Amino acid sequence: MSTYRALWVEESDDGFKQTVTERQLDTLPENDVLVKVSYSSLNYKDALSANGNKGVTRSYPHTPGIDAAGTVVKSGNSAFKEGDEVIVIGYDLGMNTSGGLAEYISVPADWVVLKPEKITLREAMCYGTAGFTAALSVDTLLHVGIAPSQGPVLVTGASGGVGSIACWLLKNLNFEVHALTGKQDQADWFKAIGVETLVSRDDVLAMGKRPMGKTQWAAAVDTVGGDILSNVVKAIQYGGSVACCGMAAGAEINTSVFPFIIRGINLLGVDSVELPLEIKMDIWRQIANDWKFDDFAEFTEHSLKEVSLDEVPAALDTILKGGHLGRYLVKIS
Ligand SMILES: NC(=O)c1ccc[n+]([C@@H]2O[C@H](COP(=O)([O-])OP(=O)(O)OC[C@H]3O[C@@H](n4cnc5c(N)ncnc54)[C@H](OP(=O)(O)O)[C@@H]3O)[C@@H](O)[C@H]2O)c1
Repeated sequence: MSTYRALWVEESDDGFKQTVTERQLDTLPENDVLVKVSYSSLNYKDALSANGNKGVTRSYPHTPGIDAAGTVVKSGNSAFKEGDEVIVIGYDLGMNTSGGLAEYISVPADWVVLKPEKITLREAMCYGTAGFTAALSVDTLLHVGIAPSQGPVLVTGASGGVGSIACWLLKNLNFEVHALTGKQDQADWFKAIGVETLVSRDDVLAMGKRPMGKTQWAAAVDTVGGDILSNVVKAIQYGGSVACCGMAAGAEINTSVFPFIIRGINLLGVDSVELPLEIKMDIWRQIANDWKFDDFAEFTEHSLKEVSLDEVPAALDTILKGGHLGRYLVKIS
């Protein structure tokens, strides 16, 4: 096999054009591990990379795809051998290194996680970067002692990739889940992923400039940042925590110190990209074992759409416009 199929993003006079093309295998970067990709998934960052966002991808043409699960076909590192099933998420994959929306990736060995036994390659990408980040966010809250008895947990951007999996995980860990969403008309969809109460963006934004509001949640997983996060911290109960992992609503926050110095709130940063590989492995093991809940197949059936590589450009467009519910899984080979 000297060629492979890949999503190819090129800059043209009319903007950025995405096509699926045949590429020569020897054009991939020279790295320790060559992986034949079985599945990838679509994340907001892929939509940005595919549309010329130079904060994500500096130069084009380029193949996006920040995650991939597949089988090692060649390894120059003794940690991996031909036939090993592996997962790669984060680091530079799909940003400035040719990404997982292709039949092959070539990556440094220290980006690669051996797939835990109790999860399939497909299941790993049903999670993908978004699900991994949701798991890491929930794990972060559990580590600071957040427990179901303390009260409801809010998830913002709840219909998105990170948000929907955070809702489902929290429900399975016996939390009462409240979901902040712009899709208030999708009550049945949210109920099926474990949400008990929908919260409107307007209600949270209405807290306005007051330094603190009525306490409503023991904790939150925040995927949107901006004015919403600025207000959510005002409504977290004494000693509670917010895991902050995204910026769909904005990168800046504006808050007084009062929630922190009067209520002892913790704002906890969550990063899945540069997270040390050993911690990545621990989280994947947790996903594959303790958190392999019985209703996983039902959850993915409801919240995940499987597409082919050829269908990726249209799906990325939907993500960019915020019109999706849940996640896209990409079957590559
Ligand atoms: N820290 C990390 O390691 C890490 C890893 C993965 C992703 N992320 C970040 O996490 C965020 C979510 O990623 P994702 O893959 O879940 O994206 P996504 O699937 O596009 O979901 C984002 C959700 O945020 C809500 N939203 C969108 N625009 C908004 C706005 N202007 N104001 C308020 N809410 C808005 C929407 O949900 P509703 O309609 O339900 O409100 C949308 O579905 C992104 O910023 C992404 O870059 C960070």
